[in-house]
Amino acid sequence: MEKQTYSRRFFLSTSSMAAAAVALIPGNVKAFYKNVKKRFIPAKSVNTLSLTINQKQYTVQADTRTTLLDLLREQLQLTGSKKGCDHGQCGACTVHVNGERVLSCLTLAALVQNQPITTIEGLAEGDQLHPMQQAFIECDGFQCGYCTPGQIMSAVACVKEGHTHSVEEIKEFMSGNLCRCGAYNGIVESIQKVAAR
Ligand code: FES
Ligand code: FES
Repeated sequence: MEKQTYSRRFFLSTSSMAAAAVALIPGNVKAFYKNVKKRFIPAKSVNTLSLTINQKQYTVQADTRTTLLDLLREQLQLTGSKKGCDHGQCGACTVHVNGERVLSCLTLAALVQNQPITTIEGLAEGDQLHPMQQAFIECDGFQCGYCTPGQIMSAVACVKEGHTHSVEEIKEFMSGNLCRCGAYNGIVESIQKVAAR
């Protein structure tokens, strides 16, 4: 088989041909995406949403496509829940809805109206930290702290769910919460401490 050689000239000529081809596309591409947008992406619709967060009632005007995370952070200034990936992969945005952990970046605010929502801001009782918050401090369960609100909300749920029989089980049920600082040992220790109470 004849061996194909690729010279600099070959690359320049083919890449300029490709660039010319792309230059012809935009009109069609724009029309295509406009059509997709029109057909599949719901139009902006601002509605009154009613939410119960940390035992407090909020009534807000929001686009019905707003995620719970964006509503908390951008409209209610409850910035304890963190936006890590915004794609359901890191757990930094974990909050409780009806006592169960959910990823607020994947939850539409409109769908959790009138359901009890707890964020990290609602965990302590006044000046009294939640036992899990206290355990994270005592067991070095964090370093930079960015993932910590999500870790704590998940850890509280993990204990409540009873998934604390072994280190492996805790790791498994906390695996949706990532920590770039690698504070995992302290996190597991914190959970064991609270589970043993
Ligand atoms: S921000 Fe929600 S999972 Fe990462
Ligand atoms: S403490 Fe830094 S990302 Fe977890």
